Amino acid sequence: MDPFIRGLPKAELHLHLEGSLEPELIFAIAQRNGVSLPYASVDALRRAYSFTNLQSFLDIYYAGAGVLLHEQDFYDMTWAYLERAHAQGVRHTEVFFDPQTHTERGVAFEAVLDGIRRALSDARERFGLTSELILCFLRHLSAEAADATLTQALPYKDAFVAVGLDSSEVGHPPSKFQAVFRRALDVGLKTVAHAGEEGPPEYIWEALDLLQVSRIDHGVRCLEDPRLVARLVEEQVPLTVCPLSNVKLKVFERIEDHTLGRMLDAGLRATVNSDDPSYFGGYVAENYEAVAEGLGLSRARLVELARNSFHASFLSPAERERRLAELDAYLAQA
Ligand code: HPA
Ligand code: ZN
Repeated sequence: MDPFIRGLPKAELHLHLEGSLEPELIFAIAQRNGVSLPYASVDALRRAYSFTNLQSFLDIYYAGAGVLLHEQDFYDMTWAYLERAHAQGVRHTEVFFDPQTHTERGVAFEAVLDGIRRALSDARERFGLTSELILCFLRHLSAEAADATLTQALPYKDAFVAVGLDSSEVGHPPSKFQAVFRRALDVGLKTVAHAGEEGPPEYIWEALDLLQVSRIDHGVRCLEDPRLVARLVEEQVPLTVCPLSNVKLKVFERIEDHTLGRMLDAGLRATVNSDDPSYFGGYVAENYEAVAEGLGLSRARLVELARNSFHASFLSPAERERRLAELDAYLAQA
């Protein structure tokens, strides 16, 4: 790992906590919870991580998350991610979680939230690593189920900065969730949505116009629509791009085919993130390294990506300036 990339101060803005569960931790939690897994060993589970598309990944991702039952499980998952992030220069992170993946199995919403929040708070104290939490609705479930989840979350609304939208994209357009996103906006939450990962550019338009998102998660398919690119550039809408994820899920055949360089050249505010690092072969620094090598991105480009990550975050202006100053101080001594 290039020490410059590892140490580069950065924000991570597209990270599913459930996708940070390493196979070893899945097995350890399964054992202590008496949950049986359809894999004989850690290695057998890891060998199953060969995906053909988003759905083939999601099937295994939900199976892995099925071991999580207690507050401590959610703490351990979140803490393991935060330690890795801290070791890779992440100064601020805005993480997704999927409450429905757990409440559907009978786990209390509070157990999920409390475990995650306790770990985020410990990382703030121990590492100075700041964070925000984004509650994602599962788009393969109904709009009514999303609405019920928001109702369940509202007593804790100060714990979240935004709501988001993830899971199976094609066939579940943003328009399906317009009403629940309206409710979230009305109580002061920000909104983000996965769009244009496997789904068409129209889904990005819908996320902007119907869900009023502050950022697009993935968004790589925007390049198919020049009018959309013009708008995203004009409004400087951040895109949380996840290069290793895109290759693992066959959005691009090889890292060399990834369009991140073209996106930056077009003036889009792209950022680099890890998505589901345990499943896609790397945390955020490995993603920076993959595009540095695979696309031949210069050091200046990598710095631009790190700068974009703070600009695209939900940090207050004062906190953003503080983080950008840390980045400048790092560059001055690098
Ligand atoms: N896309 C959609 N849903 C997801 C993802 C993703 O990359 N990761 C976890 N849920
Ligand atoms: Zn994602």
